[in-house]
Amino acid sequence: MKSLLELMLARRSVRKYAEGSIKPEKLETILRAGLLAPSGHSKYPLEFIVVEDKATLEKMSHCRVGAAKMLAGASAAIVVLGDIEKSDMWVEDASVAMMGMHLMATELGLGSCWVQVRLREAEDGRASEEFLREFLDFPSNCQCQAILSIGEMEHTPKAHELDKLKVEKIHREKF
Ligand SMILES: Cc1cc2nc3c(=O)[nH]c(=O)nc-3n(C[C@H](O)[C@H](O)[C@H](O)COP(=O)(O)O)c2cc1C
Repeated sequence: MKSLLELMLARRSVRKYAEGSIKPEKLETILRAGLLAPSGHSKYPLEFIVVEDKATLEKMSHCRVGAAKMLAGASAAIVVLGDIEKSDMWVEDASVAMMGMHLMATELGLGSCWVQVRLREAEDGRASEEFLREFLDFPSNCQCQAILSIGEMEHTPKAHELDKLKVEKIHREKF
């Protein structure tokens, strides 16, 4: 088993996937990682839409100009929504959940990538969120922060290296 540090070094954004579906138990474990994320004020405002339908994944790949193409070849996607009526920290909550799921996918040997939706535009010029809302049917109190695309990896990507980290970004005592 990898240590958390090894897992963090191995985590990469993977945008090319092998054909076929992923094991249902792996997808469920990734979703559990999302549910395990901490939540500001314990409000738990997040909702998750799991998409495995190929036609829907293809449609979703047009939710951004260029940046969501990998969804067309993904085996699954998890759309992360926040109920804005439940918490004003839903963006932070969604980010933590995204990271937990992204790391869990790595742990399970799957490739995954963050697709940003909030504040972004679809190919047709609408807000990415409105584009997705039309066919994913989420209510107006739920806003979409991001999507995690998931699939079996074709190749293991190069891991990050500890000695290449930008340590100059660390400031001690004062900026
Ligand atoms: C907030 C955020 C938004 C991102 N949005 C996208 C995206 O829309 N499409 C995409 O292909 N990658 C996206 N990424 C992945 C980044 O491009 C990637 O993390 C970065 O290039 C570093 O590479 P690595 O993840 O392999 O370490 C996003 C990552 C983050 C954290």
